[in-house]
Amino acid sequence: MDKMTVRDVEVSGKRVLVRVDFNVPLDEKTGVITDDSRIQAALPTIRYLIEQGAKVILISHLGRPKGKVVDKLRLTVVAQRLSQILGQQVGVTKDCIGAEVEKSVKSLRSGDVLLLENLRFHSAEEMDSPLFARALARLADIYVNDAFGTSHRSHASVVRMAEYLPAVSGLLLERELNTLGGILENPAHPFAAILGGAKVSDKVGMLENIVAKVDYLLIGGGMAATFLKAKSYEVGQSLVESERLDTAVGLMEKAAGNGVQLLLPVDVVIANEVSAQAKVKVVSIKNVPPDWSIVDIGPQTIKDFYGELRRCKTVFWNGPMGIYEIPQFAQGTQAIAKLLANLNATTIMGGGSTAEVVIELGLADKMTFISTGGNASLKFLGGGTLPGVEVLLNKET
Ligand code: 3PG
Repeated sequence: MDKMTVRDVEVSGKRVLVRVDFNVPLDEKTGVITDDSRIQAALPTIRYLIEQGAKVILISHLGRPKGKVVDKLRLTVVAQRLSQILGQQVGVTKDCIGAEVEKSVKSLRSGDVLLLENLRFHSAEEMDSPLFARALARLADIYVNDAFGTSHRSHASVVRMAEYLPAVSGLLLERELNTLGGILENPAHPFAAILGGAKVSDKVGMLENIVAKVDYLLIGGGMAATFLKAKSYEVGQSLVESERLDTAVGLMEKAAGNGVQLLLPVDVVIANEVSAQAKVKVVSIKNVPPDWSIVDIGPQTIKDFYGELRRCKTVFWNGPMGIYEIPQFAQGTQAIAKLLANLNATTIMGGGSTAEVVIELGLADKMTFISTGGNASLKFLGGGTLPGVEVLLNKET
């Protein structure tokens, strides 16, 4: 990575404003954090700053409150969890800017950690307001971006801070960029990408970029229906993006031209309706009835995918293989997760629902790396630049 990191600047005794992505899932009813991976992922930077004697001021969003104070999206619960993990009190303010916050920051001592209230309680955050950014910048001497998952957003706390403060990368952001950048630039071969999820259109950039890098491209999930349709198979009631049929044909041609083996499902789980009560069957892709929907990959497809994956040295996985939220349509996704967990290869998971599945199955420790960014990782792997990274100081050469 060619950006300066928190290790390249003097932070001792300084007020360091760290943009983290503490947008964690909360239980609808109890408000309890259901997965604290994003908090855990930010620990290396936070601990480093504490050890160096910095005054650590954390800023984050939580959910999409749309510029209003929404009590259930307060960051109190995150501060509590962070206090437990760090074994030291993490204070939390009632707002993220203003006189009260400035007072709290003034009272910080070296090694203290303070979390400011949800940035998105102010519409100025998403509007990328210079005034709002300046009010945040007043609190600190140095700005650190460690919010990889939000770095694709041109929001004030992500892109504007660099105008007012020296701006460097945190250790999580650095690790994400090096790991995801590594699979684009220098992956150990054979290299396979397993791609799923509902739509081709969500992932066109990534698909087009990655097809030039891999040896195997394994396609499952909802998006497989568009590829199958492009090959003239009947896919019944499955969602087909007709405006993406040409994209699918183009990708298959590009794969063939590059010597990439592109595998589509050979059998699928189909359902008479998309619900937990549905009737299900496994059929060859040649036999999908017009009134049924494809909801998962079938057992022969899992075997075929495994046949190629077991040879690979690098595997990147993004997107579930079926409608995994419904247990009887989740077997393909679970099988792929288990299979990757036991592979003797570098296994890298995209963020969002892929990360969610792996964590839910308790397999996170068995994977080489799980990205904390859903859309951010898609954008980066699509060859796009992340605005929150672009603004950071370059390493001196
Ligand atoms: C995410 O969860 O992908 C990030 O925190 C960004 O959240 P957003 O999509 O609400 O901007």
